Amino acid sequence: MEQPIVTAYDFNAPRQIIVGGGTFGKLPELVIGLKGTCVLIVTDGYLLEQGLVREAISSLSEAGIKSVVFHRISPDPTMGSVLEGLALLRQHSCDAIVALGGGSPIDAAKAISVLATNDGPLTRYAGYHLIPNPGLPLIAVPTTAGTGSEATRVAVITDELRQVKMMLFDNALLPDIAVVDYRLSMTMPPQLTAYVGVDTLTHGLEAYVSKKRNPFSDPIALSCIGLVGQHLLRAYTCPTDEAAREGMAIAACQGGLAFSNSSVCLVHGMSRPLGAVYHLTHGLSNAILLPAVTRFSVAGCEARYATAARTMGLVAPELTDVEAADALVYALEAMNRQLNVPRLRDCVGVSRATFEQSVSKMAADALASGSPQNNPVVPTMAEIEQLYLTCW
Ligand SMILES: [Fe+2]
Repeated sequence: MEQPIVTAYDFNAPRQIIVGGGTFGKLPELVIGLKGTCVLIVTDGYLLEQGLVREAISSLSEAGIKSVVFHRISPDPTMGSVLEGLALLRQHSCDAIVALGGGSPIDAAKAISVLATNDGPLTRYAGYHLIPNPGLPLIAVPTTAGTGSEATRVAVITDELRQVKMMLFDNALLPDIAVVDYRLSMTMPPQLTAYVGVDTLTHGLEAYVSKKRNPFSDPIALSCIGLVGQHLLRAYTCPTDEAAREGMAIAACQGGLAFSNSSVCLVHGMSRPLGAVYHLTHGLSNAILLPAVTRFSVAGCEARYATAARTMGLVAPELTDVEAADALVYALEAMNRQLNVPRLRDCVGVSRATFEQSVSKMAADALASGSPQNNPVVPTMAEIEQLYLTCW
């Protein structure tokens, strides 16, 4: 077996991961199991309009559990929205939290959960292992197969004053229970399916090539990569295909587990500043960056990129590692075209000259996050700036 780069590591996961169509119906018994009597449901405005939140409220109510809904979560959750949710939680003396939605409500719920039991401000917990107390009991129910936040000890919250996406990494951020019910993702619009699906692939790939990879994260990362290869295009072109939706829901959860126990790398390091400055959604900015950053990175880890290509079923078995890794880059470019992923110039909303003026701040913020240092090829600041321009 290949020697791990890290020789000491730990593996952390939610206490329970419940998987399968219809498992959302278990919500009341899960809350009771966590001794919850009044639940803060953290969701977003879109989901509030769907029937799902109503369904949660009435099933909880039938079980004698009070609930309060907090839905003012933007696509990039801010410190302000976290504080607003915290105030509502305190006002109603909630003793448990259910996060219902994509990565934004789940990350915001994680932050609310730990601020309920730890002194603020949230900025003091940006970084690794800085949260002293466990948070309130948290059940995460993803409705988008993408971020895998239901299975991670990571939350990304935007500090709106500094225009920085803060990354918080601590076991206190792990949900107690993840409910992975693929049926909740069946109505996801195709373009969202595409972006969060590439985010999922990025989690698997980055976890697998990271300098923090280990023998526990590896098989989960590879399973994620294989499931995306098998199901993403189908979920995009045929949204009602249950097998494809189920495959992507499992891939997303596995991607979260994998990177939470290994790490993300350069794609995520560069993606967060794009979100903070230009308000691109997390999945979109990752999807734009993935092919170019992979091309930059393959030389540092050819054998593993080759294994990823083979796992996705992209290459003939007789190809060498160099050929297979190269084929992976071309396949990622082709996948972006098939999924209609735009270029930066199509979505940042500024001229090339204005964009060029922002790349040094974004590159500095990317490096400061620590993620690029886990990349198979560790970039210089100038190389990160160049990669941003390559994706223009
Ligand atoms: Fe991600």
